[in-house]
Amino acid sequence: MKIMAISSSPRGGGQSKTEIMLSALVKGMRETGATVQEVYLRNHKVHYCTGCYTCWTKTPGVCQLKDDMTLKLFPMFLESDIVVYASPLYHFTMNACMKAFIERTLPMVQPFLVDKGGRTSHPLRTKPPASVMLSVAGFPEISVFQHLSSHVRFMFGKGLLAEIYRPAAELLSNPAFKRTVADILEATTEAGRELVESSRIKDATMQRITQTICDTESLRMMGDLMWKTCIAEGITTKEFQAKGRVPRPDSIASFLAVMKIGFNPKKAADTQAVLQFTFTGTVEGSCHLIIDKGKIETHTGAAPKPDLAITAPFETWMDVITKKADGAQLFVEQKYTAEGNLDLLMNMAKLFG
Ligand SMILES: Cc1cc2nc3c(=O)[nH]c(=O)nc-3n(C[C@H](O)[C@H](O)[C@H](O)COP(=O)(O)O)c2cc1C
Repeated sequence: MKIMAISSSPRGGGQSKTEIMLSALVKGMRETGATVQEVYLRNHKVHYCTGCYTCWTKTPGVCQLKDDMTLKLFPMFLESDIVVYASPLYHFTMNACMKAFIERTLPMVQPFLVDKGGRTSHPLRTKPPASVMLSVAGFPEISVFQHLSSHVRFMFGKGLLAEIYRPAAELLSNPAFKRTVADILEATTEAGRELVESSRIKDATMQRITQTICDTESLRMMGDLMWKTCIAEGITTKEFQAKGRVPRPDSIASFLAVMKIGFNPKKAADTQAVLQFTFTGTVEGSCHLIIDKGKIETHTGAAPKPDLAITAPFETWMDVITKKADGAQLFVEQKYTAEGNLDLLMNMAKLFG
Protein backbone atom coordinates (compact mmCIF):
# COMPACT_ATOMS: atom_id res chain seq x y z
CA MET A 1 0.00 0.00 0.00
CA LYS A 2 1.27 3.46 -0.95
CA ILE A 3 0.48 6.37 1.35
CA MET A 4 1.24 10.05 0.83
CA ALA A 5 1.33 11.94 4.16
CA ILE A 6 1.19 15.70 3.61
CA SER A 7 1.84 18.34 6.27
CA SER A 8 0.92 21.94 5.54
CA SER A 9 2.22 23.46 8.77
CA PRO A 10 4.52 26.36 7.98
CA ARG A 11 6.31 25.74 11.29
CA GLY A 12 9.40 23.53 11.22
CA GLY A 13 12.13 22.83 13.73
CA GLY A 14 10.08 20.49 15.90
CA GLN A 15 7.59 23.25 16.69
CA SER A 16 4.72 21.93 14.57
CA LYS A 17 2.01 20.09 16.48
CA THR A 18 0.56 18.88 13.15
CA GLU A 19 3.86 17.14 12.51
CA ILE A 20 4.07 15.65 16.01
CA MET A 21 0.70 13.98 15.35
CA LEU A 22 1.50 13.09 11.74
CA SER A 23 4.83 11.44 12.69
CA ALA A 24 3.01 9.24 15.24
CA LEU A 25 0.38 8.25 12.65
CA VAL A 26 3.00 7.52 9.97
CA LYS A 27 4.96 5.37 12.45
CA GLY A 28 1.92 3.10 12.88
CA MET A 29 1.28 2.96 9.13
CA ARG A 30 4.89 1.95 8.44
CA GLU A 31 4.72 -0.76 11.12
CA THR A 32 2.14 -2.55 8.96
CA GLY A 33 4.54 -2.59 6.01
CA ALA A 34 2.88 0.28 4.11
CA THR A 35 5.12 2.58 2.08
CA VAL A 36 4.66 6.13 3.33
CA GLN A 37 6.05 9.19 1.59
CA GLU A 38 6.08 12.27 3.81
CA VAL A 39 5.64 15.63 2.12
CA TYR A 40 6.23 18.92 3.94
CA LEU A 41 4.54 21.55 1.81
CA ARG A 42 6.67 24.32 3.37
CA ASN A 43 9.65 22.83 1.51
CA HIS A 44 7.87 22.84 -1.87
CA LYS A 45 6.72 25.37 -4.41
CA VAL A 46 2.97 24.88 -4.89
CA HIS A 47 1.43 27.87 -6.65
CA TYR A 48 -2.26 28.49 -6.11
CA CYS A 49 -4.61 27.45 -8.95
CA THR A 50 -4.91 30.29 -11.45
CA GLY A 51 -8.33 29.14 -12.73
CA CYS A 52 -7.19 29.03 -16.38
CA TYR A 53 -8.80 25.59 -17.03
CA THR A 54 -5.88 24.66 -19.28
CA CYS A 55 -5.95 21.27 -17.49
CA TRP A 56 -9.54 20.83 -18.77
CA THR A 57 -9.04 22.15 -22.32
CA LYS A 58 -5.66 22.45 -24.06
CA THR A 59 -3.79 19.81 -22.03
CA PRO A 60 -6.45 17.55 -20.45
CA GLY A 61 -5.31 16.26 -17.05
CA VAL A 62 -2.10 18.33 -17.04
CA CYS A 63 -1.61 21.67 -15.29
CA GLN A 64 0.25 24.36 -17.19
CA LEU A 65 2.13 25.56 -14.06
CA LYS A 66 5.51 23.82 -13.98
CA ASP A 67 6.13 23.87 -10.22
CA ASP A 68 6.65 21.10 -7.62
CA MET A 69 2.94 20.24 -7.71
CA THR A 70 2.87 19.40 -11.41
CA LEU A 71 6.35 17.89 -11.57
CA LYS A 72 6.47 15.84 -8.33
CA LEU A 73 3.52 16.00 -5.98
CA PHE A 74 0.53 15.48 -8.30
CA PRO A 75 2.07 12.33 -9.88
CA MET A 76 2.83 11.06 -6.33
CA PHE A 77 -0.78 11.86 -5.34
CA LEU A 78 -2.22 9.90 -8.27
CA GLU A 79 -0.10 6.85 -7.46
CA SER A 80 -1.16 6.77 -3.80
CA ASP A 81 -3.79 4.52 -2.25
CA ILE A 82 -4.30 6.85 0.71
CA VAL A 83 -3.51 10.54 1.15
CA VAL A 84 -3.26 11.97 4.67
CA TYR A 85 -4.02 15.70 4.69
CA ALA A 86 -2.44 17.06 7.90
CA SER A 87 -3.16 20.73 8.44
CA PRO A 88 -3.14 23.10 11.39
CA LEU A 89 -6.57 24.61 11.99
CA TYR A 90 -6.44 28.22 10.79
CA HIS A 91 -9.57 30.33 11.13
CA PHE A 92 -11.58 27.16 11.80
CA THR A 93 -10.58 25.31 8.63
CA MET A 94 -7.50 23.87 6.87
CA ASN A 95 -4.77 26.43 6.21
CA ALA A 96 -4.24 28.19 2.87
CA CYS A 97 -1.20 26.07 2.03
CA MET A 98 -3.23 22.82 2.21
CA LYS A 99 -6.17 24.41 0.37
CA ALA A 100 -3.81 25.45 -2.44
CA PHE A 101 -2.59 21.85 -2.71
CA ILE A 102 -6.15 20.48 -2.89
CA GLU A 103 -7.22 23.07 -5.49
CA ARG A 104 -4.28 22.01 -7.64
CA THR A 105 -5.71 18.47 -7.88
CA LEU A 106 -8.29 19.87 -10.34
CA PRO A 107 -6.66 18.07 -13.32
CA MET A 108 -7.97 14.85 -11.71
CA VAL A 109 -11.54 15.67 -12.80
CA GLN A 110 -13.14 16.31 -16.17
CA PRO A 111 -15.07 19.53 -16.91
CA PHE A 112 -18.41 17.86 -17.73
CA LEU A 113 -21.44 18.07 -15.48
CA VAL A 114 -23.10 14.83 -14.41
CA ASP A 115 -25.72 13.79 -11.87
CA LYS A 116 -24.29 11.98 -8.84
CA GLY A 117 -27.02 11.01 -6.36
CA GLY A 118 -29.07 14.13 -7.14
CA ARG A 119 -26.07 16.46 -7.03
CA THR A 120 -24.20 17.99 -9.97
CA SER A 121 -20.69 16.69 -10.12
CA HIS A 122 -17.63 16.39 -12.40
CA PRO A 123 -16.68 12.91 -13.69
CA LEU A 124 -13.30 11.71 -12.48
CA ARG A 125 -10.43 11.26 -14.91
CA THR A 126 -8.80 8.72 -12.57
CA LYS A 127 -9.85 7.08 -9.30
CA PRO A 128 -8.73 9.38 -6.47
CA PRO A 129 -6.83 8.05 -3.46
CA ALA A 130 -8.78 7.52 -0.22
CA SER A 131 -8.44 10.45 2.19
CA VAL A 132 -7.61 10.91 5.85
CA MET A 133 -7.96 14.36 7.43
CA LEU A 134 -5.74 15.19 10.41
CA SER A 135 -5.85 18.57 12.10
CA VAL A 136 -4.65 20.23 15.30
CA ALA A 137 -5.97 23.37 16.98
CA GLY A 138 -5.01 25.74 19.75
CA PHE A 139 -8.46 25.97 21.34
CA PRO A 140 -9.46 23.15 23.71
CA GLU A 141 -12.97 22.37 22.43
CA ILE A 142 -13.38 19.58 19.85
CA SER A 143 -16.21 21.66 18.31
CA VAL A 144 -13.61 24.01 16.73
CA PHE A 145 -13.21 21.37 14.01
CA GLN A 146 -16.90 21.23 13.02
CA HIS A 147 -16.56 23.46 9.94
CA LEU A 148 -13.46 21.64 8.67
CA SER A 149 -15.20 18.32 9.30
CA SER A 150 -18.33 19.27 7.39
CA HIS A 151 -16.15 20.58 4.52
CA VAL A 152 -14.06 17.42 4.15
CA ARG A 153 -17.08 15.13 4.51
CA PHE A 154 -18.81 16.98 1.66
CA MET A 155 -15.68 17.17 -0.49
CA PHE A 156 -14.31 13.63 -0.06
CA GLY A 157 -17.61 11.80 0.49
CA LYS A 158 -17.23 8.04 0.80
CA GLY A 159 -13.52 8.35 0.02
CA LEU A 160 -12.93 9.85 3.47
CA LEU A 161 -11.58 7.03 5.64
CA ALA A 162 -11.09 8.92 8.88
CA GLU A 163 -10.82 12.29 10.59
CA ILE A 164 -8.32 12.82 13.41
CA TYR A 165 -8.72 16.05 15.35
CA ARG A 166 -6.53 17.08 18.28
CA PRO A 167 -7.63 20.23 20.17
CA ALA A 168 -5.43 22.00 22.78
CA ALA A 169 -2.54 20.87 20.61
CA GLU A 170 -0.04 23.43 21.86
CA LEU A 171 0.14 21.33 25.03
CA LEU A 172 1.66 18.45 23.04
CA SER A 173 5.12 19.93 23.62
CA ASN A 174 4.55 20.96 27.25
CA PRO A 175 6.73 18.79 29.52
CA ALA A 176 4.17 19.08 32.34
CA PHE A 177 1.83 16.78 30.39
CA LYS A 178 4.43 14.26 29.24
CA ARG A 179 2.50 11.16 30.32
CA THR A 180 -0.86 12.15 28.78
CA VAL A 181 0.87 13.26 25.58
CA ALA A 182 2.72 9.93 25.37
CA ASP A 183 -0.64 8.12 25.53
CA ILE A 184 -2.13 10.40 22.85
CA LEU A 185 0.81 9.74 20.54
CA GLU A 186 0.73 5.98 21.18
CA ALA A 187 -2.98 6.02 20.31
CA THR A 188 -2.22 7.98 17.13
CA THR A 189 0.33 5.33 16.16
CA GLU A 190 -2.30 2.68 16.87
CA ALA A 191 -4.70 4.66 14.61
CA GLY A 192 -2.09 4.47 11.82
CA ARG A 193 -1.97 0.68 12.12
CA GLU A 194 -5.77 0.40 12.26
CA LEU A 195 -6.22 2.60 9.21
CA VAL A 196 -3.99 0.44 7.03
CA GLU A 197 -5.32 -2.84 8.39
CA SER A 198 -9.05 -2.07 8.50
CA SER A 199 -9.56 1.33 6.79
CA ARG A 200 -11.03 2.72 10.01
CA ILE A 201 -10.04 3.89 13.48
CA LYS A 202 -11.66 2.25 16.52
CA ASP A 203 -13.76 4.47 18.83
CA ALA A 204 -11.56 3.57 21.82
CA THR A 205 -8.42 4.68 19.92
CA MET A 206 -10.11 7.94 18.91
CA GLN A 207 -11.13 8.62 22.52
CA ARG A 208 -7.50 8.30 23.60
CA ILE A 209 -6.40 10.66 20.81
CA THR A 210 -8.91 13.34 21.86
CA GLN A 211 -8.58 12.88 25.63
CA THR A 212 -8.42 16.00 27.80
CA ILE A 213 -4.85 17.10 28.51
CA CYS A 214 -5.67 19.83 30.99
CA ASP A 215 -8.87 21.51 32.22
CA THR A 216 -10.02 24.49 30.15
CA GLU A 217 -9.60 27.05 32.93
CA SER A 218 -5.96 26.08 33.58
CA LEU A 219 -5.27 25.98 29.82
CA ARG A 220 -6.57 29.52 29.39
CA MET A 221 -4.63 30.75 32.41
CA MET A 222 -1.38 29.07 31.31
CA GLY A 223 -1.88 30.29 27.73
CA ASP A 224 -2.39 33.86 28.86
CA LEU A 225 0.67 33.74 31.13
CA MET A 226 2.77 32.40 28.24
CA TRP A 227 1.64 35.23 25.93
CA LYS A 228 2.23 37.83 28.66
CA THR A 229 5.73 36.38 29.28
CA CYS A 230 6.52 36.51 25.53
CA ILE A 231 5.26 40.11 25.25
CA ALA A 232 7.13 41.26 28.39
CA GLU A 233 10.42 39.63 27.26
CA GLY A 234 10.01 40.44 23.56
CA ILE A 235 10.40 36.79 22.52
CA THR A 236 8.41 34.60 20.10
CA THR A 237 6.66 31.40 21.18
CA LYS A 238 9.42 29.45 19.40
CA GLU A 239 12.06 31.23 21.50
CA PHE A 240 9.93 30.70 24.63
CA GLN A 241 9.94 26.95 23.93
CA ALA A 242 13.63 26.79 22.92
CA LYS A 243 14.74 28.63 26.07
CA GLY A 244 12.63 26.32 28.28
CA ARG A 245 10.82 29.32 29.76
CA VAL A 246 8.16 28.91 32.48
CA PRO A 247 5.02 31.11 32.20
CA ARG A 248 5.42 33.88 34.82
CA PRO A 249 2.48 34.04 37.27
CA ASP A 250 0.98 37.48 37.90
CA SER A 251 -1.44 36.64 40.73
CA ILE A 252 -1.79 34.17 43.58
CA ALA A 253 -4.34 32.19 41.52
CA SER A 254 -1.98 31.86 38.55
CA PHE A 255 0.94 31.04 40.88
CA LEU A 256 -1.10 28.17 42.35
CA ALA A 257 -2.07 26.99 38.83
CA VAL A 258 1.57 26.93 37.69
CA MET A 259 2.64 25.08 40.86
CA LYS A 260 -0.12 22.50 40.34
CA ILE A 261 0.78 21.92 36.69
CA GLY A 262 4.52 21.83 37.47
CA PHE A 263 4.05 19.36 40.36
CA ASN A 264 5.92 16.09 39.84
CA PRO A 265 3.87 13.30 41.51
CA LYS A 266 6.64 10.69 41.07
CA LYS A 267 9.27 12.78 42.86
CA ALA A 268 6.74 13.56 45.62
CA ALA A 269 5.66 9.94 46.17
CA ASP A 270 7.15 9.88 49.72
CA THR A 271 6.50 13.50 50.67
CA GLN A 272 3.82 14.66 53.08
CA ALA A 273 4.07 18.38 53.75
CA VAL A 274 2.30 21.73 53.82
CA LEU A 275 4.13 24.61 52.11
CA GLN A 276 2.97 28.14 52.82
CA PHE A 277 3.81 31.29 50.86
CA THR A 278 3.25 34.83 52.08
CA PHE A 279 3.84 37.40 49.37
CA THR A 280 4.55 41.09 49.66
CA GLY A 281 4.99 43.82 47.04
CA THR A 282 3.13 43.82 43.69
CA VAL A 283 0.90 40.92 44.79
CA GLU A 284 0.11 40.55 48.49
CA GLY A 285 -1.42 37.64 50.37
CA SER A 286 -0.89 34.06 51.50
CA CYS A 287 -1.54 30.67 49.97
CA HIS A 288 -0.50 27.11 50.69
CA LEU A 289 0.07 23.76 49.01
CA ILE A 290 -0.73 20.44 50.64
CA ILE A 291 1.45 17.62 49.29
CA ASP A 292 0.30 14.15 50.24
CA LYS A 293 2.26 11.26 48.71
CA GLY A 294 2.10 12.16 45.03
CA LYS A 295 -1.00 14.33 45.27
CA ILE A 296 -1.29 18.08 45.58
CA GLU A 297 -4.00 20.49 46.72
CA THR A 298 -3.72 24.25 46.39
CA HIS A 299 -5.45 26.79 48.65
CA THR A 300 -5.48 30.54 49.16
CA GLY A 301 -4.88 31.88 52.68
CA ALA A 302 -2.46 30.82 55.40
CA ALA A 303 -2.16 27.19 56.58
CA PRO A 304 -2.79 26.33 60.27
CA LYS A 305 0.50 24.40 60.68
CA PRO A 306 2.85 24.74 57.68
CA ASP A 307 5.95 22.55 57.52
CA LEU A 308 7.69 25.26 55.56
CA ALA A 309 6.68 28.92 55.52
CA ILE A 310 8.23 31.19 52.88
CA THR A 311 7.83 34.95 53.02
CA ALA A 312 8.99 36.74 49.90
CA PRO A 313 8.36 39.73 47.66
CA PHE A 314 6.05 38.29 44.93
CA GLU A 315 8.33 39.27 42.02
CA THR A 316 11.41 37.78 43.74
CA TRP A 317 9.71 34.41 44.13
CA MET A 318 8.43 34.53 40.54
CA ASP A 319 12.06 35.08 39.45
CA VAL A 320 12.94 31.88 41.34
CA ILE A 321 10.19 29.71 39.84
CA THR A 322 10.78 31.00 36.30
CA LYS A 323 14.52 30.23 36.76
CA LYS A 324 15.54 33.87 36.40
CA ALA A 325 17.16 33.82 39.82
CA ASP A 326 18.86 31.19 41.96
CA GLY A 327 16.64 30.44 44.99
CA ALA A 328 19.57 29.24 47.16
CA GLN A 329 21.61 32.34 46.39
CA LEU A 330 18.68 34.68 47.17
CA PHE A 331 18.12 32.82 50.47
CA VAL A 332 21.75 33.45 51.48
CA GLU A 333 21.33 37.09 50.51
CA GLN A 334 18.19 37.18 52.71
CA LYS A 335 16.01 38.35 49.83
CA TYR A 336 13.29 36.12 51.32
CA THR A 337 12.84 34.10 54.50
CA ALA A 338 12.01 30.44 55.01
CA GLU A 339 11.02 28.91 58.35
CA GLY A 340 10.51 25.25 59.21
CA ASN A 341 11.80 22.21 57.30
CA LEU A 342 14.50 23.65 55.06
CA ASP A 343 15.00 20.26 53.33
CA LEU A 344 11.68 20.97 51.62
CA LEU A 345 13.08 24.26 50.36
CA MET A 346 16.14 22.46 48.98
CA ASN A 347 13.91 19.87 47.28
CA MET A 348 11.49 22.37 45.77
CA ALA A 349 13.07 22.23 42.29
CA LYS A 350 12.64 18.43 42.25
CA LEU A 351 9.05 18.45 43.52
CA PHE A 352 8.06 21.08 40.93
CA GLY A 353 10.16 20.09 37.92
C1 LIG B 1 -3.29 32.22 11.34
C2 LIG B 1 -3.69 31.29 12.44
C3 LIG B 1 -5.03 30.97 12.62
C4 LIG B 1 -5.42 30.09 13.64
N1 LIG B 1 -6.74 29.79 13.79
C5 LIG B 1 -7.12 28.95 14.77
C6 LIG B 1 -8.50 28.62 14.93
O1 LIG B 1 -9.36 29.04 14.19
N2 LIG B 1 -8.84 27.80 15.97
C7 LIG B 1 -7.90 27.27 16.82
O2 LIG B 1 -8.28 26.54 17.75
N3 LIG B 1 -6.59 27.54 16.66
C8 LIG B 1 -6.19 28.36 15.67
N4 LIG B 1 -4.85 28.64 15.49
C9 LIG B 1 -3.84 27.94 16.34
C10 LIG B 1 -3.22 26.74 15.62
O3 LIG B 1 -4.19 25.84 15.14
C11 LIG B 1 -2.31 25.97 16.59
O4 LIG B 1 -1.31 26.85 17.05
C12 LIG B 1 -1.67 24.75 15.96
O5 LIG B 1 -0.92 24.07 16.93
C13 LIG B 1 -0.74 25.11 14.81
O6 LIG B 1 -0.29 23.93 14.20
P1 LIG B 1 1.29 23.69 13.92
O7 LIG B 1 1.91 23.69 15.28
O8 LIG B 1 1.36 22.38 13.26
O9 LIG B 1 1.76 24.79 13.05
C14 LIG B 1 -4.44 29.52 14.49
C15 LIG B 1 -3.08 29.84 14.29
C16 LIG B 1 -2.71 30.72 13.30
C17 LIG B 1 -1.23 31.04 13.13
